[in-house]
Amino acid sequence: MIYINEIDIKGKRLLIRVDCNVPLDRNLNITDDTRIRRILPTINHALDENAAVILCSHLGRPKGKVVPEMSLAPVARRLSRLLQKEVKLAPDVVGDKVKKMIDAMKPGDILLLENLRFHPGETKNDPEFAKELAKLADVYINDAFAVAHRAHASVVGVPEYMPICAAGFLMKDEITYFHQALEDPARPLVAIIGGRKVSDKLDALENLLNKVDKIIIGGAMANTFLKAIKYEVGNSFVEENLLNTARRLVKKARKNGIKIYLPVDCVVADRIAPDAETKVTTIQEVPKNWYILDIGPATTTVFAEALQNAKTIIWNGPMGVFEMDAFSRGTLSMVHHVTNTYALTIVGGGDTDVAIQRAGGWEKFSYISTGGGAFVELLEGKKLPGIAALEKCERRMKNA
Ligand code: 3PG
Repeated sequence: MIYINEIDIKGKRLLIRVDCNVPLDRNLNITDDTRIRRILPTINHALDENAAVILCSHLGRPKGKVVPEMSLAPVARRLSRLLQKEVKLAPDVVGDKVKKMIDAMKPGDILLLENLRFHPGETKNDPEFAKELAKLADVYINDAFAVAHRAHASVVGVPEYMPICAAGFLMKDEITYFHQALEDPARPLVAIIGGRKVSDKLDALENLLNKVDKIIIGGAMANTFLKAIKYEVGNSFVEENLLNTARRLVKKARKNGIKIYLPVDCVVADRIAPDAETKVTTIQEVPKNWYILDIGPATTTVFAEALQNAKTIIWNGPMGVFEMDAFSRGTLSMVHHVTNTYALTIVGGGDTDVAIQRAGGWEKFSYISTGGGAFVELLEGKKLPGIAALEKCERRMKNA
């Protein structure tokens, strides 16, 4: 992979694909600007090299129509504040008005294009739309890891039509840490997988069972495994159609010499509500009509022991319904135990990052990915289309 600091961008016009798909509240205020902060090194490098910087991103899923609430205006304002520099927002992505604004750009200027997904051509990867975008600049930089699993025009189409492409620094970090964790790990390598559905993580589990030394399973998805090995889980969420699959995965783990850790106790509730009646029970004693909503204290101890000698830990998905205080303790104590090891600790996907922010352990992890779906697809062992497109452009550059 070629990175932005390895190509000549001095005085050039750059089109940088970023992922500023940030959460907004009802008043359109940004509630978490992590994704914006993480692209600053790439933008600052481009500015240091006197490039003219054209940023493009999506926000939400406007389905090819202009949805004013999904404008990138709040992102432009936040970027301006963080960079201490004017960041203009273009009224559109392509077209005459945008072209005029780009023609007027001087080295060191920054322009943010409006939401790419206001155009139907973006998600359809329409070649005409991609060509229009490609015409806006001399060089294409992809620093949008979180959308690299989408074969969209700005991700895979544009690099087809660009003579020079490279990855930004955020993309570099994401690729490097992931590679270190899963492709060339210091062992023992332990995966912690949580979240609600086995079906969402099936391919990831299959792939991890060829790579890890131990796997810890928590969250509602553990219920399906527990039921598959004949525990009663009351009214808890279970994917009945995946019981055989869960049994097969347990067998596969055994065959591959991988230890699977499942909850031995849990926090149960009579309802799924913050004010529900709750208690801690062993897995053998889950009351009939109750719900398992978090791992219990004995499980936390077992999981902590499994982590003790780990040299690499990769974590995706919470251990319970952490959004409700009553069921957040399992996830929060896992943050504590993971960060108390000497391992390389990589987290990504789902709401794991949100849970970590709540636990206040953000800076204690080796790396927190900005990717949700993209991170899970890497766990599945897939090649991300956005990365493949950069590599293809790179081969073209080498042969030119
Ligand atoms: C994300 O938030 O995971 C990325 O920005 C991709 O968004 P999408 O799931 O709407 O494609």
